[in-house]
Amino acid sequence: MATPLTIAELKEVARRRVPKMFFDYADSGAWTEGTYKANEADFAAIKLRQRVLVDMTNRSLESTMIGEKVSMPVALSPTGLTGMQHADGEILAAQAAEVAGVPFTLSTMSVCSIEDVAAHTIKPFWFQLYVMKDREFVKSLINRARAAGCSALVVTLDLQILGQRHKDIRNGLSTPPKFIPKHIWQVATRPRWAFEMLGTKRRSFGNIVGHAQGVGDLSSLSSWTAEQFDPRLSWDDVAWIKEQWGGKLILKGILDAEDAAMAAETGADAIIVSNHGGRQLDGAASSISVLPEIVKAVGDRIEVHVDGGIRSGQDVLKALCLGAQGTYIGRPFLYGIGAYGKRGVTMALDIIRNELDITMALCGKRDIRDVGPELLHHRLPVVATEPARPSQ
Ligand code: GLV
Repeated sequence: MATPLTIAELKEVARRRVPKMFFDYADSGAWTEGTYKANEADFAAIKLRQRVLVDMTNRSLESTMIGEKVSMPVALSPTGLTGMQHADGEILAAQAAEVAGVPFTLSTMSVCSIEDVAAHTIKPFWFQLYVMKDREFVKSLINRARAAGCSALVVTLDLQILGQRHKDIRNGLSTPPKFIPKHIWQVATRPRWAFEMLGTKRRSFGNIVGHAQGVGDLSSLSSWTAEQFDPRLSWDDVAWIKEQWGGKLILKGILDAEDAAMAAETGADAIIVSNHGGRQLDGAASSISVLPEIVKAVGDRIEVHVDGGIRSGQDVLKALCLGAQGTYIGRPFLYGIGAYGKRGVTMALDIIRNELDITMALCGKRDIRDVGPELLHHRLPVVATEPARPSQ
């Protein structure tokens, strides 16, 4: 196939290269997947203002997120099981992000461990924390992230219990795959993936195996979360985590202005407006549709970032115009890694960077830090109307 020019094309390559249960894990939302779809559809409904005859030379996409310099305000989201999309996935994605000059966020539920990613990268990355009932283990994760030089802790607030994802249940998702006929078939039909996976030792949850005490069935994400994640997580715990960590803190999973106000009270450095890629509460609003009210409520007190539904540089621009200081991509880089490994993550970032740059220019701007709501059309989507009749 010709070199992919869009994230959608990368996705199709990944579909052919990654065993079905892992491709589906990335490409799934909860229940009807309504929120997953709305995240993308609501971006598409926002229209841009085309401007002409303005100087479009010397453009810059450089900005900052939580005070860190970024070559464009697009970070890689924390995603579970990245090392099952491609062997050593987290290490490769972190390396690609490092070269691209954007932040990489390692998930608690990663395959490569914190130490492993640190050993294979030069710049600090961010670590995403899930809060387990076992606070000693949480403490040890925080200490490990600090020891590895992570420059921010991203605490996920919207997964105290796991949303039901039908594809994962039907596939019998497990890490590593079990030797049941369905999984053997899925792996056997993806020989390149299988060959590369045989070449690595990293095939289970690297941050947990060998670190957490008394774990039960770890191969299944759903049983592990049900058993270990803390359904009582509260704002007091956030204060405790902040104290334990002592560094830059980002709170992920805010979708409501009242929650955003509570998050701002914690003294965290940023919030991520997110519905977990439509993987938790199906029926919740899309991230982009609630971004403006959240920015209005807390934007003067805390940095606001957003994820969910970003599939192009145009989506990034729209989010920035609506007040986000930074954005995150999850699936786009997972499709990249599933398709072509590290090169695929670089492709995904290059696609987004190029789209962002050209779109910004055609909207009449040269500096990404200058974009605002004036670049967007505040019009309702066009609806079919009766043709105007000439007046009598
Ligand atoms: C984990 O973060 C998931 O959404 O599967």
